Amino acid sequence: MSAALSDNVAGHRAKYDHLSKSLPPEEVGRTYVGSGDPVEVGHKELELIRAFSVLQDVAIVDVGCGIGRLTQHLMPEPIGRYLGLDIIPEILDQAVATAANDPRFRFEISVECRIPESDGWADVVVGFSLITHLMDEEVFECIQEAHRVLRPGAVAIFSFMDFNLPVHQASFFTHASHHRQGHGDILKFTTQDVLTRFGTKAGFGDVSFIDGSADLQRSGLPSQLLDVNELPSTYQFGQSLCVLRKPESEKVSHNE
Ligand SMILES: C[S@@+](CC[C@H](N)C(=O)[O-])C[C@H]1O[C@@H](n2cnc3c(N)ncnc32)[C@H](O)[C@@H]1O
Repeated sequence: MSAALSDNVAGHRAKYDHLSKSLPPEEVGRTYVGSGDPVEVGHKELELIRAFSVLQDVAIVDVGCGIGRLTQHLMPEPIGRYLGLDIIPEILDQAVATAANDPRFRFEISVECRIPESDGWADVVVGFSLITHLMDEEVFECIQEAHRVLRPGAVAIFSFMDFNLPVHQASFFTHASHHRQGHGDILKFTTQDVLTRFGTKAGFGDVSFIDGSADLQRSGLPSQLLDVNELPSTYQFGQSLCVLRKPESEKVSHNE
């Protein structure tokens, strides 16, 4: 199978290998998954999940979990089960280490955007900074898989770069001027129209959006990893958010 048909594993591998050669070992993983303080980024991801779901006993799928920026914040929480997926073993190993053999946490190498769990297993599926690296066909596969694995009434949250949001569009044109200087992982921009179509086609009853520049309220709940009293009461996620809710009953046609 060519690289283009296999989740761009080759492109991500090239990026990881390049960083391994050019950075001290302790900086490779955190640079690979993006900019920003890993604890603060992960805390925003946790706060977002809290905005849409209780945490008590829930099953969470984290597609493209990276080095475990979110995982580290879920460890002290009363979640029931967690499945973290990624395509680069060295990166996944860091997330595994974060979970410190907690039996609630499981990690798998992801293949062709599949979620290796049964239908209706999950209460929440998240993909943070994931679909920004995928072809449209793969984004649709991820959304279909999220729909399959979610229980009725549950939500999937995918962050994305919105071509129609001025600040993201400006990023696109900056990126366009030097995209050939990258090391293999694509940076994909999309629109709310495209994601709405993918979501309804996959069977989600409700597809809604939050702009990456919107001010979101923090819960104020304590964290073991940072002092929440030192954080502003609101935060901006940066990437925009697509929130897909599976209908309580399956009357919605997948082919509408
Ligand atoms: C920008 S990083 C974000 C990681 C994590 N979600 C976070 O917020 O810290 C994107 C991650 O998605 C992974 N990835 C890319 N394509 C994937 C795919 N098809 N399936 C699973 N993971 C993928 C990459 O290896 C990378 O670790």
